[in-house]
Amino acid sequence: MSSTSIDSLLHENRRFAPEPAFTAQANATPELYDEANADRLKFWARQASELLNWHTPFTQTLDWSNPPFARWFHDGRINVAYNCLDRHVEAGNGDRVALYFEGEPGDTRTITYAELTAEVKKAANMLASLGVTQGDRVVLYMPMIPEAIVAMLAIARLGAIHSVVFGGFAAESLKARIDDAGAKLVITADGGYRKGRVFNLKNAVDAALASGAESVENVVVVRRGENEVDWSDGRDLWWHELMADAEAEHEAQGFEAENPLFILYTSGTTGKPKGILHTSGGYLTQAAFTHKNVFDLKPESDVYWCTADVGWITGHSYVVYGPLANGATQVIYEGTPDSPHPGRWWEIIEKYGVSLFYTAPTAIRSFMKIGREVPNQYNLATLRVLGSVGEPINPEAWMWYRQVIGGGRTPIVDTWWQTETGAMMISALPGITTAKPGSAQVPLPGISVDVLDEQGVHVGKEAGGLLVITEPWPSMLRGIWGDEQRFVDTYWSAFEGKYFAGDGAHLDEDGDVWLLGRVDDVMNVSGHRLSTMEIESALVSHDIVAEAAVVGASDETTGQAVVAFVILKQRHVDSLTPEEASDQLRAHVAQQIGAIARPRQIFVVAELPKTRSGKIMRRLLRDIAEGREIGDTTTLTDTNVVASISASFR
Ligand code: WTA
Repeated sequence: MSSTSIDSLLHENRRFAPEPAFTAQANATPELYDEANADRLKFWARQASELLNWHTPFTQTLDWSNPPFARWFHDGRINVAYNCLDRHVEAGNGDRVALYFEGEPGDTRTITYAELTAEVKKAANMLASLGVTQGDRVVLYMPMIPEAIVAMLAIARLGAIHSVVFGGFAAESLKARIDDAGAKLVITADGGYRKGRVFNLKNAVDAALASGAESVENVVVVRRGENEVDWSDGRDLWWHELMADAEAEHEAQGFEAENPLFILYTSGTTGKPKGILHTSGGYLTQAAFTHKNVFDLKPESDVYWCTADVGWITGHSYVVYGPLANGATQVIYEGTPDSPHPGRWWEIIEKYGVSLFYTAPTAIRSFMKIGREVPNQYNLATLRVLGSVGEPINPEAWMWYRQVIGGGRTPIVDTWWQTETGAMMISALPGITTAKPGSAQVPLPGISVDVLDEQGVHVGKEAGGLLVITEPWPSMLRGIWGDEQRFVDTYWSAFEGKYFAGDGAHLDEDGDVWLLGRVDDVMNVSGHRLSTMEIESALVSHDIVAEAAVVGASDETTGQAVVAFVILKQRHVDSLTPEEASDQLRAHVAQQIGAIARPRQIFVVAELPKTRSGKIMRRLLRDIAEGREIGDTTTLTDTNVVASISASFR
């Protein structure tokens, strides 16, 4: 984030006190903070007992005897899927709608809790018959359709581990994740809908398996796009055929609270994605607690919609586990916001009477660009809480969200958290907190954060530094799959005994937190995390490239955008125009990693600015990419490099 935008954030003086009518009916109360401050562990133990059903109740809340390896509620036994399904049916809520599915082409399905439970039981039997048991890894590579949720819950029901790979990732990325997880099964679809067209998913699975991924025994394919697919007899199986033969009854067994639930890969500061590991009881406790209180969920009357794909952590915690554990009714939508027309999202809100809505600032900013005329055509009066996640929300987007989408009435909750934290950590509570546009504000009850300088000293009020989490929390990551040391090094070694989040933050005069973006080599593009190193390795894997440097440059709509600087190998310098080289390389990155990583711009340069010790000066490249004055270059080997890059940029 540039210094001018930090300045404007810190001069943001607008305040929005809660409406008394909202406060009167709010789930959250100020006493939650008092209770958690008085005894944090007792607070979480109460949440875990009251929000969840335990096959065997726990007697221990936290085992932190071997930090940073936490165990929460570890002598309890629980079945995550049972908590999201059967118990709601047993409580007499089987007829409540769990999912309103809206396909991009306009097809719809309404699925009650009783129906979803029945589907998941059959799917669990089906997976068991393919040999999936506790601890096995199953990779999902699917569109946003109900079967993705059914599959996740069926895997959880068996005590197995899912690893969902976002459908926008390319075959190479998929293969790397399957290999790292050692998955024995892949569940995919023939294709899904996006921007009015069917995109083929099965092809990418075939390509991934053709080049390795030898652990995979079977591929189960959901029919969705009805596109042609290649078939490998014996290996590939149709979901609908297996489901037709599957037994209907399945009794959920309790597993240890620390039984792994899922691995989700996320970009780190090196080229290799990290498999973030989450477990069962603590994760579900915090997902359910935050979903209930931050959205003020009333399961009998609310219609909730989170626009995230299940391929991201937001889809895990706030499409699948939090809402379903709380018995919510929710919308899931398969496609893009502007298909077939720019009002599609608002049309969906009107159609289903959505009351709680959760999306990312990048989406809000792109709607702002189109103009309020589009949402103004729809009745959005049912909305009562709006949430934001994925990146800092600038005050102007916050105001637009509240006024244009929320009719000037709705509380906005700006929720800070990460794949690693599993659930929300810093957020206002609606009905309680006086909101400040642009600030995530206060740690949730039971969560302790701090902002430190590089030496580990608390920065005090009206000062900036690095965000850390000072106490273990129930939904914290339990490790990086297969790489304990990297877990310790990445998160726990910057500040003794504290979790280092990788984000910069500022504390205002009230001690409220303003997030300032990543401080490492991770970019945040449209709310998606991408690693500069990963894209650099993709670029240098192309034959024409000698060297590459990637930076995240600020972008009005996507927050940050990928900008690359490449040096071509000598023999290609004259044979390719910079435009040709750039086109080839953008396509190559999309093919290697996925379309989300495709650079917005690639600059072909003669040299890259380096420090005397040979490190690429990314900060300087970012200044150039953002068109800023270039700062101190005294450590550069050759200041002319910068001048010539700047010249080629303008
Ligand atoms: C950023 C997404 C500011 C942050 C849930 C974090 C945010 C990274 C916010 C995690 C927010 C997420 N305000 N920044 N409300 N929410 N971030 O793992 O940089 O995809 O470290 O998890 O997104 O991204 P991830």
